[in-house]
Amino acid sequence: MKNRYVIVLAAGQGTRMKSKLYKVMHPVMGRPMVGHVVQAALDAEVDRVYTVTGVGADLVKDYLQDQSDYLYQDEQLGTAHAVEQGRSLLADKKGTTLVLSGDTPLLQAETIKKLMDFHEKKDAKATILTAQTENPFGYGRVIRTEDGSVHKIVEEKDANTTEKAVQEINTGTYCFDNESLFEVLEKVDNNNAQGEYYLPDVIEILKDRKEIVEAYQLENKDESLGVNDRVALSEAQLIMQARVNEKHMVNGVTIIDPQTTYIEMDVEIGQDTVIEPGTYLKGTTVIGEDVLIGSDSTIIDSQIKDRVTIRQSVLEEAEVKEDSDIGPYSHLRANTVIEEKVHIGNFVEIKNSTISEGSAVGHHSYIGDAEVGSKVNVGAGVVFANYNGKEKFKTTVGSHSFIGSNATLVAPLHLGDKSFVAAGSTIIEDLPKESLGIGRGRQVIKKDFYTNYFENKNED
Ligand code: UD1
Ligand code: CA
Repeated sequence: MKNRYVIVLAAGQGTRMKSKLYKVMHPVMGRPMVGHVVQAALDAEVDRVYTVTGVGADLVKDYLQDQSDYLYQDEQLGTAHAVEQGRSLLADKKGTTLVLSGDTPLLQAETIKKLMDFHEKKDAKATILTAQTENPFGYGRVIRTEDGSVHKIVEEKDANTTEKAVQEINTGTYCFDNESLFEVLEKVDNNNAQGEYYLPDVIEILKDRKEIVEAYQLENKDESLGVNDRVALSEAQLIMQARVNEKHMVNGVTIIDPQTTYIEMDVEIGQDTVIEPGTYLKGTTVIGEDVLIGSDSTIIDSQIKDRVTIRQSVLEEAEVKEDSDIGPYSHLRANTVIEEKVHIGNFVEIKNSTISEGSAVGHHSYIGDAEVGSKVNVGAGVVFANYNGKEKFKTTVGSHSFIGSNATLVAPLHLGDKSFVAAGSTIIEDLPKESLGIGRGRQVIKKDFYTNYFENKNED
């Protein structure tokens, strides 16, 4: 226990996002911004995280659950007022309080650790994490005195021309001696352009009291990005995308074109897997070793085992086991299990079904609510008719069966092992094992049809 506490500010409305979604819940590579911030704090091994929430409190709590404790800010009167909500829980605690903004998703745990170590070593009452940027617009500027020490922070809207020219910005991340923080917090007023209680104002108050105030400059200014609008959100996405891709490449994954490959935060990928361009891997997807994920595939919340090949396909909540291949252009939907060594070919849709080992569904088929045994061949254009407009029914197909092309299997239906369905059949009755089912009109042949037909026509 080092008595290190964290307050994450996440109560702001986020009007500049122009969104129905609460600002800090906007995802960056699949994880809400506030999730990134809290995770970084936890990775920096702090004792306790308190998240300040407002209107979107329930969403934030549902997401973070017990990763954090919660403080409630009824009205959003400014960042100082947000921190004030922690007074009853924190004011009399000795130690360091780190304040983070829920909208700075790129801040890393390593940086937080360095900042806290620096702050404690300097025995400072406050340390601001700052960054040098070429475009400081919108951020609070760090104003230093002639001797180079920090004097105060001035917000964009309150800054004069000289202050606006300053390129060192406040990242919205600070360390405070906890008791000093709550002591000076009540001195902050809302006498400024926005009529808000600014947390950065405590810096000037501490300086006036001749306390030690330090600034710690970020090595990598990317981490300072504060997301107030969708433009910044896309910048954050791009930086996070590069970071995630780099992590996987370092771990032994080949990514042919990192710029067009999107891998969300919680996705896992095994060694020697190759990811081709235009691929989006989302949610809780786990991919094994020696897998090939072909170009333009989207894989969501799915499990892909070793040596699988997937090309130009969409998978959602599906499982594909070892040595199987999918696509091009197939769609595996929820609760689809593809067992080992299965071939799913072109334009196949499968939903809530299991296809057992060694089976093949080569071309243009729909399979829904089915159990297909092993070594089954499903011909081209086979449809499992699982829905009568009111209810869904199940089909089971025994192992070693052969379903001819363009057959319709009307559920509920059971085909025994080694069944054979003639091409073009509509099968509505169960087949006993090892039988042939034919369900189609008999063919009629009309001889000399062509000549008669066209001769008659020409007489008109
Ligand atoms: C803030 C800083 C600015 C800094 C920038 C860095 C202030 C006054 N300014 O500006 O110096 O350069 O961050 O990104 O602090 N929040 C609350 N309750 C409130 C108001 C805000 O919880 O009443 C939360 C927001 O949800 C947000 C964070 O505090 O996560 C920062 O607020 P925001 O309005 O985004 O401040 P900026 O204008 O970006
Ligand atoms: Ca902000």
